[in-house]
Amino acid sequence: MSKAQTKYLKDYKKPAYAIKTVDLTFELFEEETIVTNSMQITKADTNEKDLKLDAVSLELLEVSLNGLKLQESRYIIEEENLTIINVPTEFEIKIKNKIYPQNNTELEGLYKSGDIFCTQNEPEGFRSITPYLDRPDIMSVFTTTVVADKKKYPILLSNGNKIKCHESFDERHGVTWHDPHPKPSYLFALVAGDLGSISDEFVTMSGNKIVLNIYCDLGNENKCHHAMRSLKEAMKWDEKKYGREYDLEIYNIVAVDSFNMGAMENKGLNIFNSAYVLADMDTATDANFMGIESVIAHEYFHNWTGNRITCRDWFQLTLKEGLTVFRDQCFSADMNSAEVQRIEDVKALRERQFVEDASPTRHPIQPESYISMNNFYTATVYEKGAEVIRMVHTFLGEKKYAKATDLYFETFDGQAVTTDDFLWAMSKGGDINLEAFKTWYHQSGTPRLKVEESFANGTYKLSLTQIIPDTLEDRKQKPYYYPLKMGLLDEEGKEVLVKTLIVSKEHETFVFENFETKPVLSINRDFSAPIIIEQKKSEYDFLMQYDTNSFTQYEATQNFALQTINKLISSDEIDKAFVQAYGYLLDLDVDLSYKALLLELPSVSAIMQLQEKIDFDVIYTAQDKLLKIIAQKFKNKLLDIYKKNHFPASMSLDAEYIAKRAIKNRVLKILFALKSDEVAQLAQKQYEESLTMTDRIVALDVLENLHVNYAEVALQDFYNKYKDETLVMNKYFAILASSSRYDVLERVEKLQRDKVYDEKVPNLVRSLVGSFARNHKYFHAKDGSGYKFLADKIIAIDKINPQMASGLCGAFKVCNKMNNHNQNLMKKELSRVISTQGLSKNSFEIIDKILK
Ligand code: PHE
Ligand code: ZN
Repeated sequence: MSKAQTKYLKDYKKPAYAIKTVDLTFELFEEETIVTNSMQITKADTNEKDLKLDAVSLELLEVSLNGLKLQESRYIIEEENLTIINVPTEFEIKIKNKIYPQNNTELEGLYKSGDIFCTQNEPEGFRSITPYLDRPDIMSVFTTTVVADKKKYPILLSNGNKIKCHESFDERHGVTWHDPHPKPSYLFALVAGDLGSISDEFVTMSGNKIVLNIYCDLGNENKCHHAMRSLKEAMKWDEKKYGREYDLEIYNIVAVDSFNMGAMENKGLNIFNSAYVLADMDTATDANFMGIESVIAHEYFHNWTGNRITCRDWFQLTLKEGLTVFRDQCFSADMNSAEVQRIEDVKALRERQFVEDASPTRHPIQPESYISMNNFYTATVYEKGAEVIRMVHTFLGEKKYAKATDLYFETFDGQAVTTDDFLWAMSKGGDINLEAFKTWYHQSGTPRLKVEESFANGTYKLSLTQIIPDTLEDRKQKPYYYPLKMGLLDEEGKEVLVKTLIVSKEHETFVFENFETKPVLSINRDFSAPIIIEQKKSEYDFLMQYDTNSFTQYEATQNFALQTINKLISSDEIDKAFVQAYGYLLDLDVDLSYKALLLELPSVSAIMQLQEKIDFDVIYTAQDKLLKIIAQKFKNKLLDIYKKNHFPASMSLDAEYIAKRAIKNRVLKILFALKSDEVAQLAQKQYEESLTMTDRIVALDVLENLHVNYAEVALQDFYNKYKDETLVMNKYFAILASSSRYDVLERVEKLQRDKVYDEKVPNLVRSLVGSFARNHKYFHAKDGSGYKFLADKIIAIDKINPQMASGLCGAFKVCNKMNNHNQNLMKKELSRVISTQGLSKNSFEIIDKILK
């Protein structure tokens, strides 16, 4: 990496120009695309002389100012800019340039996914399409004409409303789109292809009829119905909960197979990774259906939180992402089980964000600097960002929060704003001072809270001490300000007090009077603050039985299990009380999808976070041991639960059947620990009789790890059935790459040569290489083979798609927590990668931080 330039928030300057309108014409050809870009520009700062536009690898054909072609002496082309020298106060610039979408493997800007032309411009892709002031605080009205071969590309789409069709005599045609809402360039989109589609309509609360279309590869139309249902539910929900209505005549969604992320909220033309659109019972799991519902809603919600009110600069990313994730989480909670949703969200936060927040790449939800903005679409900006909004919601309560968000929309509609602007609206509308709360935006690391209890003479005292991590550069950080929900239970498990404490000081004590016996504490209910509770506690089994808050009941189970595993690691001794309490859970009469979560034992990632120095062998051994004890002790009960919920098999997506599949498959995964023929046969039968992908995939996974012969037959069957369905093949690759069988690496290497695999398709890379990188057992192999494999892959993929490569670098984040042996092996490989000629700034930034 030659010149890694760091950008800083403190260097932000208001734009010196405004672009009022943009007129774009795209002439799409097989070998090249000609872009004509005509902009009406005004100077905002009259001291400015030159106009410096963002432009990467520009192949300029022509540039004119106010209709006059410019001589070469009037402009300068550099690696990342086109500068027009000496421009007037108000003028029109017209630029014609050439690009090559069919060679674009980075999947940023205009590129081809299979036979479909599509775009991805967030955060800075637009500059590789045409020269522009490519920053989110430049908002402009776009009119776009797309011209292409009529037969190959019958569907031509862009943002806004369709205003004109151009027919011509040869084989080409064109369509013009106009988007009346001023928007930043990152929300620009274009699609051209021979696409199938389904259509529907939605009538908004003020009676506007909106046309809804979902486009996909021909033949996949019948897999779009769940996405369409989800879209309509999301539109209804945003009207009901936030009073926000859709604002164009048409809403288009396009599913493409090659996409770096989940989906993109381009104005009126969302472009989706097909994994978040396409689903039917034969090919998608229940989790896939839920994922689609939430991502469809997420992108729709961006129309107000992101598009109409956007970010002033990319340091403000959490303004739109944290808020929109919070919105989609609440939507999913309303559509499904709220208690399950909350636990799943917290689980995801801990598995990804907590790990990130403890690593050398940790950063505040509002970072101060970056080299590649692409590296900051992180669990911290998104998921921790959502937790921060959730705390604001908790402080304000439903009613004031509604008032405050209304104020936010009224005040900033049509503007590019900052997180401070958002907090201003929250404190004004919510009538609350949030000054002390701002630390959440500027500090990194997961805060801890040490909890100590005492009881004497009827008085219960709760002493809280904040343990605040230093910054990466060892700077001290300030105490946090947050809501801490708690409950106190009496000895019969009755709730005697429920309260939301406000934690604000480094150390404080809360006193509660008039108890006959020492109450039992249930703390951080609903996970009201994204912190780690540190507490020596012996009452987990009590809370497992009696806690009235579903989140802390789950939490007690997890904590007790972790404590038990920790004991198993150091002393080989099993805590009988835990086994007994677990037995109690098996008999609980609660919602079955919630119960499936309660019965899940802590993940490797959860156990690893408790270790000073990570030793995966030790973790796996202890985890296996506990699972085995549970499975042996409760074998009959587990089998009962299995049978009771396995029959009758159903393809229904009703909550009841989703829950039955969840509990049954949880139980099967526990029984797996017995490693018996009986369980193998159960899994084999489940595979063969499965009506749903949910059942099939769990059975396949169990077989792969349990019984070589059965697995071989099932895997072959699966491959033959689904080899033409790339979304299903992702699952196949993921199972094999996550396997515990000894020859995983060998098989992964072989699978790279499978004809279904394609290194240019991010989903496939993530499911094969990415899954292997998360297979701790073999990625961290003592001989270094896992590290070497991944380093080689990063080097190769970096040349194809830097964003995908830097994503894979993340597996090395745990480096400084590994034992010396592994640490040295990791560093050796990382040094090799970072000294590769021409390494992207994306990969450079991540590896540089890990090696520092
Ligand atoms: N803005 C998208 C979202 O969160 C994510 C995204 C970022 C997609 C960058 C592509 C590129 O909905
Ligand atoms: Zn988003």
